[in-house]
Amino acid sequence: MVEILNDSELDKMRAAGRLVAKILKALEKAAVPGVTTKELDDIAQDIIKEAGGSAPCVGYGRPPFPAAICTSVNEVVVHGIPSSRKLCEGDIVTCDVVAELDGFMGDAARTFLIGEVSEDKRLLVERTKECFFKGLEQAHEGNRIGDISHAVQTCAESYGYGVVRELEGHGIGRNMHQDPDVPNYGKPGRGHRIYKGMAFCIEPMITMGRREVYLESDGWTVPTCDGLPSAHYENTIIITDQGPEMTTYYEEEK
Ligand code: MF3
Ligand code: CO
Repeated sequence: MVEILNDSELDKMRAAGRLVAKILKALEKAAVPGVTTKELDDIAQDIIKEAGGSAPCVGYGRPPFPAAICTSVNEVVVHGIPSSRKLCEGDIVTCDVVAELDGFMGDAARTFLIGEVSEDKRLLVERTKECFFKGLEQAHEGNRIGDISHAVQTCAESYGYGVVRELEGHGIGRNMHQDPDVPNYGKPGRGHRIYKGMAFCIEPMITMGRREVYLESDGWTVPTCDGLPSAHYENTIIITDQGPEMTTYYEEEK
């Protein structure tokens, strides 16, 4: 069932979203050659703690996810587990951050470039963000979720990229994953109607090559089957009278 949030609940979504944006900003600064993905997780955990929030990813699912953020390097699409792996010049790393504050959540992801990155990876990251904004344009009352899905898919496929099918955007609020599902592919005019007061995540997961993915034996890490890179861009949005509002938005500096 899709939840409709009232004004005071929407304000709490905004506060949680600001916390997520603050974390991503700090992670972007820290994402340089030589840093480990575990160090990035420590930064996120410290900021959440200082704000008096919590990290819903810790202990989530089966096997329990062991960290606050997901760090997905190069061919890993999502759910990479922070570790002692050092990031290298030329890598791309997606940091996917969920934080809870005062009972409500924000969820957002950015793919950061580590040092000098090849042109094809840089374009993949830039165009994945463009896919998100094409979807966002469709996120207003009177439309349906399928309008968002179709816009994201059309943008990604216009570049010859793959759209991952196995993972989707989702409703969010008091829980990290709620109704409705927000796929990155589909037909316009289908899916749940969009109403004022809804909160959900739009999160294109786009591959440079084929769209097939698999699950590693750790139960979480999802790489591409062909080993080619993947990018991810996500914001939590709330639907207001003025249209969609991104609660987690911040503009990357590099
Ligand atoms: N932001 C991720 C998502 O929307 C959270 C992954 S759950 C975790 O699916 F526990 F793996 F972190
Ligand atoms: Co999400």
